[in-house]
Amino acid sequence: MLTIEKQIEIILLETVNNLYPDKDLKPIEITVATNEKFGDFQSNFAMMNSKIIGGNPRAIAENVVNNIVENSVIDKIEIAGPGFLNIFLKDSYLGDLVKKISKEDYEFKGLNIEGDVIIDYSSPNIAKRMHIGHLRSTIIGDSIKRMYKYLGYNVVADNHIGDWGTQFGKLIIGYRNWLNQEAYKENAIEELERVYVEFTRQSEENPELEDQAREELKKLQDGDKENYRLWQEFIKVSLDEYAKLYNRMGINFDTYYGESFYHDLMPGVVEELENKKIAVEDQGAKVVFFQEEEKLHPCIVQKKDGAFLYATSDIATVKFRLANYNVNKLIYVTDERQQDHFRQFFRITDMLGWNVEKQHVWFGIMRFADGVFSTRKGNVIRLEELLDEGKRRAYEIVNEKNPELSEEEKDNIAEVVGTGAIKYADLSQNRQTAVIFEWDKILSFEGNTAPYLQYSYARIKSILRRAKEQNKDVKEDVIIKFVDKTERTLAHHLTQFPGVILKAADSCRPNLIADYLFELSKKFNSFYNACPILNQEDEILYSRLLLAERTAAVLKEGLNILGINTLERM
Ligand code: ARG
Repeated sequence: MLTIEKQIEIILLETVNNLYPDKDLKPIEITVATNEKFGDFQSNFAMMNSKIIGGNPRAIAENVVNNIVENSVIDKIEIAGPGFLNIFLKDSYLGDLVKKISKEDYEFKGLNIEGDVIIDYSSPNIAKRMHIGHLRSTIIGDSIKRMYKYLGYNVVADNHIGDWGTQFGKLIIGYRNWLNQEAYKENAIEELERVYVEFTRQSEENPELEDQAREELKKLQDGDKENYRLWQEFIKVSLDEYAKLYNRMGINFDTYYGESFYHDLMPGVVEELENKKIAVEDQGAKVVFFQEEEKLHPCIVQKKDGAFLYATSDIATVKFRLANYNVNKLIYVTDERQQDHFRQFFRITDMLGWNVEKQHVWFGIMRFADGVFSTRKGNVIRLEELLDEGKRRAYEIVNEKNPELSEEEKDNIAEVVGTGAIKYADLSQNRQTAVIFEWDKILSFEGNTAPYLQYSYARIKSILRRAKEQNKDVKEDVIIKFVDKTERTLAHHLTQFPGVILKAADSCRPNLIADYLFELSKKFNSFYNACPILNQEDEILYSRLLLAERTAAVLKEGLNILGINTLERM
């Protein structure tokens, strides 16, 4: 089964190849009609190719319409304006397609799914608890992973944790001088955070602490046993803490190769850059300079004292991935502040001739109305706190609506609804817009929100259960009937699902899926208001039942791609 757009494209292609066999035509683009008046799909083929074919677009459009090859898809084509093709599908075709709207039936022709798509996301810096600043990278990355999986790619999810750098010298000093063992046993990461802050405070009065920290870091890097052990402990404590949150949010990684993992590769990378004359020495440091028109700042790959930098480690990462995977594409998810970093090191890997598709998926940072979050300033909301608050608010609502449910059930619903609301509030926005954090916004349960969609899903499931109680179970082999206009509108929207995922994956934009699902819910509601399902003649009843069931399936699949769970009852 091909996507609907692809099937129309094939029919038009065959038609125009018959009509204009010798012309080198521009590809046929099919878009969903912006208004039902304009049919189901539209194409601007005639306008795009009028110069190549020679002749006015309307005449070309007429030629296409009059000679369309035989097919079971298109009912009629109308010509509009300067030569738009307004394509109306056959009801029978649309009805059949709705039945097949599940992913097993789709084949995304034209996609090169060979090899691995490596997605680098979440990537917190060790020894701090995750706060809402980490939310976006984590859930946007997770959703992109799910989109690519849906399309059939093999995906490798890599958490590129920040486990290397100056903070470790400071932590080691802090640990030795100010750690409270009791508190550490109780909540290790909280205590590590505290000694880190303590270091910052003390070093303001006592600047030699900075030198000591540098020394400890140097010892660590030179392989000092005790410092190495401590460093490993800090990582373990951090990862254990993150695991709790990732579990709660349904997030999984295949690898946790952090920055330190690439440490041994970095000298070789710098050497290669020097040998190829890409990096040059400048005041003792090794630096890559770019052409003026590239408008990039010079990039230091090794400091005067021999230390490597963030960019060096990312270049090494690409080298490692190319050597160890069959890379199809590399995707990195971080906030907007790293755009220059990615442009620089992407460019450097191009200069090295490492041919591979790379995409930096950046998002606007989340901030309070009065400024950016900062652990140092102490104005952060921890991710756990946020999830807890989401759950608490969801619990209140469930408890009010369905007091008769068991505590266990209420608790489960509250967790799924609370987490869903938080994820959706973020994923449903254009990722490149900055987000001002507001509790009421991120925890809203009405309008275009996850709870609304989860509720729509549960409601359909309840309709299906009621039907079953009357011995009317969903039947697959029925003819979908379009009696009321809302039925066809719903069917048409349902069939667009695979195409929407394709677009969302291509641009790494989860909000396209959110928009689609919200629209689907609204279209289902209009259908359900206009079309009773139960107590109809069988022919109608089974057709509507199947439409309802497919809507639920698509809602579930779509939410799942956003990393949001559904509930059978709520
Ligand atoms: N740890 C980094 C940070 O917190 C993000 C790492 C992103 N991934 C990468 N390959 N550079 O800013």
